[in-house]
Amino acid sequence: MLRIRWELLLMAIIFWQRGQTEMNETKQSLGHVSVVIVGGTGDLARKYLWQGFFQLYADQVGKGYTFSFFGGGLSPAGKGTEVLFEILKELTCPSELSAERCALVKEQFLHLAQYHQLKTSEDYEKLIQLIKLQVEQEDMVEAGRLFYLSVPAFSYADIADKINSTCRPSHNAWLRVVLEKPFGHDFGSAQFLSKQLSGKLNEEEMYRIDHYLGKQVVSKILPFRMENKKLLDPIWNKHHIERIEIVLKETLDAKGRIQFYDQYGVIRDVLQNHLTEFMTLMLMNLPANLSNSAEILKNKLIFLASLNFIDRSNAVIGQYHAYNGEVQQELNKTKDYFSRTPTFAGVVIHVDNAQFEGIPIFMTSGKALDERVSYARVLFRSDTFCVQDSNNVQCKPKQIIFFLGHGKLQYPAILVSKNLFKPDLVSSNWKEITEYKDVNVLGLPLSDHYVQTPIVPREAYCELILHVFIGRKDSFISSEGLLASWAFWTPLLDSLAQDFPRLYPGGVANGNLLNFQLRGHQVAFSHEALVNVIKTGVEENFQVMQGKFRSSDMVSAWAQELVERLASDLLLAAEKAIHEEGQFHLALSGGSSPVALLRSLALNLYTFPWRNTHIWQVDERCVPHTESGSNFQSIHNLLLQHIRIPYFNIHPMPVHLNQRLCVEEDGGPILYEKEINQFINASRFHYILLGVGHDGHTASLFQDTKLDSHRERLVTLTESPFKPHQRMSLTFTAINRAQRVGVLVMGKSKHELVTQLSRIKGESTKYPITKVQPKSGTLIWYLDYDALLG
Ligand code: BG6
Repeated sequence: MLRIRWELLLMAIIFWQRGQTEMNETKQSLGHVSVVIVGGTGDLARKYLWQGFFQLYADQVGKGYTFSFFGGGLSPAGKGTEVLFEILKELTCPSELSAERCALVKEQFLHLAQYHQLKTSEDYEKLIQLIKLQVEQEDMVEAGRLFYLSVPAFSYADIADKINSTCRPSHNAWLRVVLEKPFGHDFGSAQFLSKQLSGKLNEEEMYRIDHYLGKQVVSKILPFRMENKKLLDPIWNKHHIERIEIVLKETLDAKGRIQFYDQYGVIRDVLQNHLTEFMTLMLMNLPANLSNSAEILKNKLIFLASLNFIDRSNAVIGQYHAYNGEVQQELNKTKDYFSRTPTFAGVVIHVDNAQFEGIPIFMTSGKALDERVSYARVLFRSDTFCVQDSNNVQCKPKQIIFFLGHGKLQYPAILVSKNLFKPDLVSSNWKEITEYKDVNVLGLPLSDHYVQTPIVPREAYCELILHVFIGRKDSFISSEGLLASWAFWTPLLDSLAQDFPRLYPGGVANGNLLNFQLRGHQVAFSHEALVNVIKTGVEENFQVMQGKFRSSDMVSAWAQELVERLASDLLLAAEKAIHEEGQFHLALSGGSSPVALLRSLALNLYTFPWRNTHIWQVDERCVPHTESGSNFQSIHNLLLQHIRIPYFNIHPMPVHLNQRLCVEEDGGPILYEKEINQFINASRFHYILLGVGHDGHTASLFQDTKLDSHRERLVTLTESPFKPHQRMSLTFTAINRAQRVGVLVMGKSKHELVTQLSRIKGESTKYPITKVQPKSGTLIWYLDYDALLG
């Protein structure tokens, strides 16, 4: 390690001098620029920043400036140097350099870069002494100092303070400090952060990065609009534009960065910044002069101020189903923790100005979607009705797409429908595509468009680092712009704070679940959710009481919590059974008690192992399944239709055979018994869920039901004192063989019964429920407080 450092130092001196000589040979020195990446061995620096500065160096070498690069970090010099060396080794050559030239430039760059510990004010002072010494020794003048803060935002104020007190260059040189998002969490926190920083740095010294502004297509929006002004002006308005879509779809999820993501969610993560910038560049007034940063920033502010107020009625939100599990894992939360952070959002925005009023702007982004693609599309109204020949290009939709890459097209491009106009080329760095791949872009063949693309694709960070160097402020977020954007988004975020996002499975399986549509100036999901409400298991006054009831285990809580507890116990039982036997056999009762539970199970649409679960019936009324009194129908309506369960895992009781209902000779009970024997190991259900009637009956086993003659029968026909009288039911033999039996009793009206039951020891013929005594399984009573306490 020591050797590497010594070698590096030696080489650094040699190349420093060589670098200077090279510069001096070509041009008179314009001065020396020192670049300091604070957090220089972190993830972002590793992935993008060093590559960006290497590109900058390669672009600039020989043009008059000299450079030194410092990677700052909290690690001591030895460790930091080693890590930095590893990062720098991996730098790749810009495609425009020949291999030979690149090798030379890379070697120079490697030796101009060094690690420096940056923890205390003294560390910053030492760094500045080093910079001054280098500059003096080489007899150079300083052009500027660039600090790139690639560190969490909470340390900005402290580092800005250190830079302000010890790192300011002399008055002829510039100071530029680059900051990475997040810049606050809402309007208030962004304002606070801005205030903190403005005490230490001037506005012109701060460069807040939004990497979307460095994307080649995004940064070409204004030049494109300017170049094609004559053609665009007549149609760039409410009379011609039908709608605008601004989209960032990702297949990736948030796994691995939940610590950050769960505090922000998709709206703060990308809509408030990237997509808002994208929209602004498309719809703001053009400046008179594209190189006038101040005018561009001013026009952006005017546009942001013209946005209509939005709240939850203008948005739909979703969360991919695995997200909550990732939160529980990465944030060390318990199983009943539920995060409301949205990972998907669709928002409609309207502009309150004469040019664009009434045009819906759909902005949408989400993790775990079906494809990775980002674009903004302006769709124009069609004025042609094609009676025939609808394939003719004049009959097709007219659109302009700013396509950032990925998706079907793979490369960044600006597309203009051929039936709109032929755009001028935006600059000499761009080319027109004339050979079209056979692909469709957003539903239309690529060949229906004029397509322009950058000649050399460049990373957003490379572009932005160059823009910091040349001081192009309009590629960055101003304090005012930042606050204006937060002022727009904060009311929506506040109004959504208590909402539950719609759960979606992720990937192509999302189907049409996230589609949303305009209703007036608002939006709503286009299709009913399978699951509408998600309730957290933990309420503020949430208390579950555990104890004994009739010598068996008892769980008691308020109704909603009780049901959730039962649902989560069922999940545990299912996981255990599937782990041990590959399948979970669950028998469900009819009646009113299980209704809430079935609803709650339907909420576990994606998390319950339905694929390996078999659903059986505890009892059934002798009516066709299609009639509303049928227990099967209510299980279907409340649960089965919402979950993805294989059809062959569903076992309705055969009450309707030979076009008759529950006729002994048709052998329905025997058939069901055979099915049980065939599917279930030792005919022991993993879980049987029972309720209790006011008269003490359970399943369809009533006070007068005679079971003595069928001791070993698992299924039987019974008579109920209530209509419909004929029933089919599991017997006590089947019930008491189960591994687990849960008895759910809810509501004040059952309090009297619960009191009676608590007084009866052992069995009572008056109360069939007392005969439920699993032989080698467990019985748990789930009693809500109303039933227990009255
Ligand atoms: C980042 C967000 O700012 O932008 C990420 O934090 C998101 O969540 C990313 O994935 C998208 O950027 P790009 O360049 O991949 O479209």
